[in-house]
Amino acid sequence: MKATAGKAVTFVCHGCGTTVDAAVTLPFHCPNAVLGDGIDHLLLPQAEAPSYVAGAGQNPFLRYRSLLSPYRLARAAGLSDDAWEEIVGRLDEAMIVADGVGFRITPMQRQPALGTALGLTAALWVKDETGNVSGSHKARHLMGAMLYLRVLEAARLSVGEGIAKRRLAIASCGNAALAAAVIARAGDWPLDVYIPPGANESVVRRLKDLGARVTLCRRVAGQSGDPCFLAFQQAVQAGAIPFGVQGTENGLAVEGARTLAFEMAETFFAAGVSPDAVFVQVGGGALASAIAQGFALAAGFGLIARAPRLLAVQADACAPLARAWMRLRDDQLEDAARHRGRYMWPWETASGSVADGILDDETYDWLEVAKAMRSTGGRPIVVDEENLRRANELGRSATGIPVSATGSAGLAGLIATLPTVKPSAVIFTGVDRPRSQA
Ligand SMILES: Cc1ncc(COP(=O)(O)O)c(C=O)c1O
Repeated sequence: MKATAGKAVTFVCHGCGTTVDAAVTLPFHCPNAVLGDGIDHLLLPQAEAPSYVAGAGQNPFLRYRSLLSPYRLARAAGLSDDAWEEIVGRLDEAMIVADGVGFRITPMQRQPALGTALGLTAALWVKDETGNVSGSHKARHLMGAMLYLRVLEAARLSVGEGIAKRRLAIASCGNAALAAAVIARAGDWPLDVYIPPGANESVVRRLKDLGARVTLCRRVAGQSGDPCFLAFQQAVQAGAIPFGVQGTENGLAVEGARTLAFEMAETFFAAGVSPDAVFVQVGGGALASAIAQGFALAAGFGLIARAPRLLAVQADACAPLARAWMRLRDDQLEDAARHRGRYMWPWETASGSVADGILDDETYDWLEVAKAMRSTGGRPIVVDEENLRRANELGRSATGIPVSATGSAGLAGLIATLPTVKPSAVIFTGVDRPRSQA
């Protein structure tokens, strides 16, 4: 077992400033977080690649390798480019066996029929993630985390000692759990999934088929926060590897989904388009955070003129990000990083929604999303059930994409702000699944 000789791959906590060397300390939860300290701890990958080098491949984890911290760690630890290709390639093959597909650039097209139905005069672009691994973008988040684990093993880094004996853990009953189960299966790594009562029976069956161990978590009267998330945190404290999609719990989780924005930026570049806005549905906030970070990098590399306005869409059934935004004045981002609870806390009265995948009690990754909304001139948009339903019906019929109501919630945000006169983009992610209750 060894440490790296090459350039350090570091993560910095945006709440307390702690720097973590990914070859020395696991960049999951901030190591200086103390329960109850009130700080918004979240590890962000630091050493960005100096320039944008897209490889020729169609697999985003090969194409954008130079922008991924696990790749940079691999190279710093002495692994070759071929070794990276082998790690990605093996996981990809195993994913195809487990799920039928591996990672490939997903389609993004102008959708004139949808634009016309909405009376738009400018182009509306739809990125279609419903055909991605496990049917949503969530697999991108978790592939980033799995690649890091694989690099630790391959490079025999001392920080990875004993890690192969630790189980993976996630709290989810939907797209994130399915993604975790496919990636864990591909990586041949045991996984625990913490789910609520009433989870979709077909999803639970699929999780078990993929070899995941499923634990039911009930809400306890008087308990604040999501019981599945609390059970997940307990498992992590007991030694499990955080394998969820919250950046607060695993600093690697968000980065993999930046590839989605890189793909979008490349398509815009090829079409000579500078999008004005991107509407992103927000639950825990990792997707919006990843999209914002990816577009900021792409703008830095000159692929797009500037990062599009980030419009974060929440259901009115549960909108903690919009509530936090209302409390956040111009000069308060610093204060928010030090005093999270003044802005973000669990939504007290969560009711049901057709977009049930974005009903997270808390927007865990809220601060990076708020920063991006501030820097791009964006804001949150809260939508009602009628709008969510209309967006889904229209989105499906006009594009033919079999997206779920959660996955078309970004479009509901666009509808709520009509008329839109400049080119915009939405992300359809999360294939619609038959609903059978457990
Ligand atoms: C289809 C789909 N879109 C968007 C989201 C929101 O992602 P995030 O929780 O990262 O905000 C989810 C989350 O479950 C989802 O399943």
